[in-house]
Amino acid sequence: MRSVLVTGGAGYIGSHTCLEMARSGIDVVVVDNLCNSRMEAVRRVEGISGKGITFYRADICDEAAMERIFERHEFSSVVHFAGLKAVGESVAKPLEYFHNNITGTVVLLRAMLRHEVRNMVFSSSATVYGDPQTVPVREDFPLSVVNPYGRTKLVIEDMMRDLHRSDDRWNIMLLRYFNPVGAHESGQIGEDPEGVPCNLMPYITKVALGSLPELKIFGGDYPTRDGTGVRDYIHVVDLAVGHLAALRKLEENPGCVAYNLGTGRGCSVLEMVNAMSRACGRAIPYSIVDRRPGDAAEVWCDPSRAMMDLGWKAERDLDAMCADAWRWQQKNPDGYPKD
Ligand code: NAD
Ligand code: UFG
Repeated sequence: MRSVLVTGGAGYIGSHTCLEMARSGIDVVVVDNLCNSRMEAVRRVEGISGKGITFYRADICDEAAMERIFERHEFSSVVHFAGLKAVGESVAKPLEYFHNNITGTVVLLRAMLRHEVRNMVFSSSATVYGDPQTVPVREDFPLSVVNPYGRTKLVIEDMMRDLHRSDDRWNIMLLRYFNPVGAHESGQIGEDPEGVPCNLMPYITKVALGSLPELKIFGGDYPTRDGTGVRDYIHVVDLAVGHLAALRKLEENPGCVAYNLGTGRGCSVLEMVNAMSRACGRAIPYSIVDRRPGDAAEVWCDPSRAMMDLGWKAERDLDAMCADAWRWQQKNPDGYPKD
């Protein structure tokens, strides 16, 4: 059976992807330092899939620990989620982000090189497009940086492109996620942010639950259909399935290629509020406040390259995203039990 190393596999997107991988018969090995996640997520993935997952609690920046993991397994590929992801925190602590995300990736790539593992799926982000001039966003649009988090993604993408140029035996899928939301339909795994959420969907579900009083909508005067910001929300299970498609593509020696993973449809904040009200059967109180600095008006993608090359497209609609996020939140009002 093929073994695949998943860095950050205890996290939100990682846990959902490990589940799809385990279910498709891949031998999953996770390395995670649990700096933003719980071991319980991995246990639950084992429970849902009925498959064992090998877990190492280690930091990808720790060269010796990474070496030990690579010595013990023969990996066909690596799926690389591990990283810090909070935009605001990256502005306050840029060096932590550069070290964790960029140095961590260099350490990982060096271990891969030593052990001749040259297949990688990398979690990039729509943030590499900066504030796009037009929508839908295509992969050949200009790339730019708007904050230190985004810089780490762009630097890593550039490193990957250089690596492939240096040796074309490297195959790297740069997956640019748009806005991942929702949860597995079992309601057993989902997004579990520390403290007050910064992102829209986890904030709305906390308001629906009554643990936060109201949603503050950042800006009602954008040049969009209802004045609120528009994004391309994608169900996390669709995203996870996209990783399986990318892993299959690696077998064709595709080189280093970037793919947008989104639905190709924009949704405004107010539309999301209405969809969540339908899912939970109650009104979501909100007020419209000033714009959040750094936010773009409208970001949604053209996902047709992923459809053409990977045979993948998002299947789940906004109502499924809200229903599944709500199920997870109701079943786990405080997230995973704290170990
Ligand atoms: P997450 O925080 O839930 O998962 C990241 C995981 O990596 C966590 O389990 C964390 O403990 C682990 N980790 C972090 N640094 C590590 C290190 N040095 N060593 C070992 N483990 C480490 O985040 P997520 O939402 O699942 O995101 C996964 C990836 O996708 C990240 O790289 C993120 O930047 C990227 N991404 C996320 C979004 C989003 O909105 N969620 C959007 C675009 C891209
Ligand atoms: N929003 C609110 N109120 C909130 C939170 C968000 O109105 O409390 C609005 C934002 O202004 C934006 C939309 O909801 O219009 C989505 O905001 P999110 O914070 O959920 O997501 P972003 O699109 O701002 O950012 C996300 C990730 C980033 C990543 C980016 C592009 O958080 O890490 O997508 O992939 F870089």
